[in-house]
Amino acid sequence: MIEEGTRSSDSTLASLPRVKELLDAAEEASARAHAPYSDFHVGAAILDDRGVIHVGCNVESAAYAATVCAERAAIAAAVLDGASRFVACVTVTRDVDPASCCGVCRQLLAEFGADALIVNASSSSDRLRWGRVSDWLPHGFSGSSLDVRPNASLATG
Ligand code: THU
Repeated sequence: MIEEGTRSSDSTLASLPRVKELLDAAEEASARAHAPYSDFHVGAAILDDRGVIHVGCNVESAAYAATVCAERAAIAAAVLDGASRFVACVTVTRDVDPASCCGVCRQLLAEFGADALIVNASSSSDRLRWGRVSDWLPHGFSGSSLDVRPNASLATG
């Protein structure tokens, strides 16, 4: 279920360990965004199952398609640090309402745990939206589909 509330809501969110720390880390990361084209600054903070926090910000390119979202920057940092399961991914946008993670980021987040909580926040309001990865990406494509490949033997020779 995807829920909405405020930072002070008494809810699932209150049970997320270190939510305040994650919100602060994501907000700090958003200040580092390289977003000269959209001026839409996003920061992400991922909590892994070892209790380590990884951050990322969006990095835009003049060749727009080369842009990397904050979530995927944080995922790359987490993987580099050896993380394999996520507990939560918190995003903070600056000066706008909380924004949903894009479909590509949801897909990639799903690789690291369908139960992980995604929380979207904003630096300019108290409002929040949150839900599990599986709520944000129901029936997503997963690696299990790759386990049965009729022509796999051809591919490997
Ligand atoms: N953006 C993110 O960083 N995360 C999302 O989930 C949605 C969009 C960034 C990409 C781009 O730099 C800017 O927001 C506008 O799309």
